[in-house]
Amino acid sequence: MAYQFGKKIVVIGTGAVGISYAFAVLNQALCDELVLIDLNEKRVAAEARDMRHGMLYAPSPVKVKEGDYADCADADIVCICAGVPQKVGETRLQLIDNNLNVFHKIVGNVMKHGFGGIFLVASNPVDVLSYATWRFSGLPKERVIGSGTILDTARLCNCLGKAFDVSPTSVDAHMIGEHGDSVIAAWSTASIAGVPLKEALEKSGDGAARMAQIHENVRSAAYSIIEGKGATYYGIAMGLARITQAILRNQQVVLTVSVLLDGEYGEHNVYIGTPAVLNGTGIARVIEKPLDDDERTKFAHSAKILREYQEKVSD
Ligand code: 2OP
Repeated sequence: MAYQFGKKIVVIGTGAVGISYAFAVLNQALCDELVLIDLNEKRVAAEARDMRHGMLYAPSPVKVKEGDYADCADADIVCICAGVPQKVGETRLQLIDNNLNVFHKIVGNVMKHGFGGIFLVASNPVDVLSYATWRFSGLPKERVIGSGTILDTARLCNCLGKAFDVSPTSVDAHMIGEHGDSVIAAWSTASIAGVPLKEALEKSGDGAARMAQIHENVRSAAYSIIEGKGATYYGIAMGLARITQAILRNQQVVLTVSVLLDGEYGEHNVYIGTPAVLNGTGIARVIEKPLDDDERTKFAHSAKILREYQEKVSD
């Protein structure tokens, strides 16, 4: 069944991630109006036109067009996917200087037109750029959301689903912390139907090695995909669409996203990946996972790295 909401999404940056997200939004008919903005005007017009040609087969009509910053004035969600992507061997954090400049201009332009909706940030390093968007926009923290570890969590649930022969949707496990090299698998609370996975893996004898291997698979997934095809985009696009659905359909659902912590996990003033409840207002509340000592130490380390990079952000 298709839904009509009178909702409008603006996508800024129609490289591989932005356009894959737009395509996912269209296929799931998550809004009524979808506006694409990019510096390359010829290309963005062609992208919008190509998508319009598929409309006949969408679940319900979505008005797709190329646009400009004035379109942000009445948008419900502005999703920023602009900036340079990772190259082979590059870390996400290495993109900060370039992408911070890009974000300074973009967020300024969006706010100049009176935007009052929700920012969804996808570009890397996503945690630091979410913090920058919050600072540059002056919007409440609940309305600036980064994709955070939504994709790492999906990668973890895929691995664990395969290992335990269940659908990934039946795995209750989360990746938390930086969407980057210091990302943490919260093993102590991972379960399937309440059965703790850490114990299940440990019972198999090589539990520690298997957990380390799964963690490494998740941590390095982007690196190996980038090596294979130059970029990652479908996975993150589906994650962004899931966040969008949670917001525009007011779902009150728990997803792992990047949010500003205000005392949770003993941390303040840092954007970082954690489970949170999402609804029509954006972040309804942060869920502080109970962590064991090792996870807590790793989370604090991840937060410390992000805070150092956040220091590069000045208004
Ligand atoms: C990913 O994890 C590169 O952040 C992107 O796929």
